[in-house]
Amino acid sequence: MTRRVRKAVFPVAGLGTRFLPATKVIAKEMLPVVDKPLIQYAVEEAIEAGIEYFIFVTGRGKSVLVEHFDHAPELELLLSERGNEHDLQSLLSSMPEPGRVLSVRQQAPLGLGHAVWCARAIIGDEPFAVLLPDELLMSEPACLKQLIDVHDGVGGNVVAVTEVPDEHTNRYGILDVVSDDGRVAKARGMVEKPDPKDAPSRLANIGRYVLDPSVFSHLDKQLSGAGGEIQLTDAIDATTGAVPFHGVRFNGERFDCGDKAGFIAANVAYALKRPDLADRVREAVGHLFK
Ligand code: G1P
Repeated sequence: MTRRVRKAVFPVAGLGTRFLPATKVIAKEMLPVVDKPLIQYAVEEAIEAGIEYFIFVTGRGKSVLVEHFDHAPELELLLSERGNEHDLQSLLSSMPEPGRVLSVRQQAPLGLGHAVWCARAIIGDEPFAVLLPDELLMSEPACLKQLIDVHDGVGGNVVAVTEVPDEHTNRYGILDVVSDDGRVAKARGMVEKPDPKDAPSRLANIGRYVLDPSVFSHLDKQLSGAGGEIQLTDAIDATTGAVPFHGVRFNGERFDCGDKAGFIAANVAYALKRPDLADRVREAVGHLFK
């Protein structure tokens, strides 16, 4: 019987240099897709997956992310006086319960593994999730829920994967696959950003993880890997064997919002899903493609 996944880590200390000047004074995770910041999509995905504790690994200038999940009393009062229930509910609906948003500072940008390691004391000895908010995953049910459902059966480390073209393996953590039933792949390890010629497969991790707490014993060593950074991929790789490792093919649509084209595509796709916007957006942009 696997333990329930109650805690999720959101690594949000990155500087967002790819979106300058927009991210000069605002956190990249606050960039909106339609009218909701990226971080809120990730938190809502975690809520849908049953997560109870939301741990932000932040850095300088990122306190606004924690602020976003607190009450805004003046705004709430104003909306309720005006009888604007719709907007009021949009502020209140994804707010975690009091005491369930926590934050730790990463202090130095030493890599994703280091960011996750900074949350070790809050995680303790239980399985936990990691969500990279740059990756916006549109699916039903939510991607993290799909992972947790698989984790309930197999335990260990479980990550979301998608198949990428050969020439893109050097952008992702790539799984070393033992067997694959078309949805769930059992893996013997994972390599961070291998050259296509060295890549053990084309199954790439897309920023959603359910991890066994034993990854911390590897992260404790603070070893640097690809790009001179402390890599989460290396900790998962080192733990495999002692605990099982599976990749779950993500069933849905993925937008890489760390990339300008992906971010713009996400805005269009999410707007087209909105009954209040779809027709107007189609009309407004349609002729640009002719
Ligand atoms: C990180 C991880 C990588 C993963 C990717 C998904 O890389 O290190 O394993 O495949 O996220 O987006 P980054 O894109 O932060 O360099």
